[in-house]
Amino acid sequence: MCERYGAAKTCFTYIDSGLPRISLHCRVNSEAVNAFVDPSMTLLSFLRKELKLFGVKEGCGEGECGACTIIMNGLAVNSCMVLAVEAEGAAITTVEGLSPDGGLSILQQEFMNHDALQCGFCTPGMLMSARALLNRNPDPTEAEAKEAIAGNFCRCTGYVPIIAAILSAAKLEKEARAK
Ligand code: FES
Ligand code: FES
Repeated sequence: MCERYGAAKTCFTYIDSGLPRISLHCRVNSEAVNAFVDPSMTLLSFLRKELKLFGVKEGCGEGECGACTIIMNGLAVNSCMVLAVEAEGAAITTVEGLSPDGGLSILQQEFMNHDALQCGFCTPGMLMSARALLNRNPDPTEAEAKEAIAGNFCRCTGYVPIIAAILSAAKLEKEARAK
């Protein structure tokens, strides 16, 4: 039993560099996670290799492309640039956490409605940057939406529909809140 969170979804051991493992307690998509991780492991690797959250994509691995974007304690961050052990006590949301009921969130649905994905590789990171924006600013301007995804590269160059999808989602979420 975990002292901090009680019964956890998962407990892992992971041996990589041979350095002593460090305990990690965090919440991922609202579920408690307790693990022992190699101190050199990135949060990106932890989410993909240990938690099997394959919606988190690895592009550059160097903080340049935004494919690995998650929300950590309310901020959109590149998970390839964060060590797993730095997530101690953190609340993390991945793209899998955007639709906990198994359906699509308004934001995801608007990406579909606007054809805002082509190959789709950048889409999870785009969605997380957009979600972080709408969480802190529910009524963004076009310029603010562009700024929010400035760190997310789309090699299919479909930026126009992505911006349209974000602004449309903001409008629909506002209407939903008013009901
Ligand atoms: S994989 Fe993290 S920014 Fe590119
Ligand atoms: S849809 Fe292909 S990289 Fe963005």
